[in-house]
Amino acid sequence: MQTQIDQYTAEVNAFHPANADELEAFRIKYLGTKGLIKDLFEQFKSTTPEEKRTLGKVLNQFKQLTEARYNELKERFESEVSNSKSDIDLTLPGEGFTVGSRHPLQLVRNEIIDIFKRLGFVVAEDREIEDDRHNFSALNFPPEHPARDMQDTFFIEKNGHNDVALRTHTSSVQVRMMEQGQPPFRAIMPGRVYRNEAISARAHCFFHQVEGLYVDENVSFADLKQTLFHFVQELYGDGTQVRFRPSYFPFTEPSAEMDISCTICKGAGCNMCKYSGWVEILGCGMVDPNVLENCGIDSEKYTGFAFGMGIERITNLKYVIRDLRLFSENDVRFLRQFKTEVI
Ligand code: PHE
Repeated sequence: MQTQIDQYTAEVNAFHPANADELEAFRIKYLGTKGLIKDLFEQFKSTTPEEKRTLGKVLNQFKQLTEARYNELKERFESEVSNSKSDIDLTLPGEGFTVGSRHPLQLVRNEIIDIFKRLGFVVAEDREIEDDRHNFSALNFPPEHPARDMQDTFFIEKNGHNDVALRTHTSSVQVRMMEQGQPPFRAIMPGRVYRNEAISARAHCFFHQVEGLYVDENVSFADLKQTLFHFVQELYGDGTQVRFRPSYFPFTEPSAEMDISCTICKGAGCNMCKYSGWVEILGCGMVDPNVLENCGIDSEKYTGFAFGMGIERITNLKYVIRDLRLFSENDVRFLRQFKTEVI
């Protein structure tokens, strides 16, 4: 019996099935209910107690070896089968991972910044909660000016000497910039601003601006016009026409509003331009000498121009968005229409 076990052990060790059928045959042959191991245990019963002592151990070892060998081979076949049966086509390109899209206001804001950066403007940012001095008085707003009124401004603190409010424009950043240094200044100020307006398709209580400031020696209205003309050609394409209409702002003199030929109908007349062919996109002007002086800048030596635009308006003229509220609702069906980025 010992020699028989030795021979079987050698066979088991040398067994390398080519397929699952051969492995099954192996199982039946050795481990099956009528298999060789069962047989050996039968024979074992009729051996002498003397033999039992040594054979028992040998027989058990052989049984364990065979079972282990079988299990190992079975596992190997199973994993091979699951791999080969898988219906994943490994040659297909990977699935895109959607990381969302940029907000349209941010896309346009970045575009505006890029254009002015190429002209040598830097980006300046500052606080949204401002005091009266930086939002109004340094900017030459007369004390009784209606923009200071509760109707337009969200006041946080009314203290009678330097009220605190949510900024109504980013001109406040211009003041802070001029206070902190001396010309030349050439910067744009993007940021969120707040005005107390009833929310509708055409107005909101907050919106976004990019303002700009250029102060140096000999800065003229011609520089202003050329800079803004160039900006519009870059943003809306060559051939976009501009016109300047006289206007009034407390902090600029002279002041103007700039219209461009309607980007939607190209001047033919449409809803966007109210059939006039022109749309207003920004306010601008030469910085009032009072403002320069209020900020510690010699108005005899320096002149400058400033401008300010609403990003929402600029965006509307690119994407024709009819309801301002869409910008702040964060509805993915709206947002997803703007350049989904896939990595
Ligand atoms: N601050 C003005 C506004 O918010 C825009 C502006 C800026 C106009 C600079 C002229 C010069 O409406």
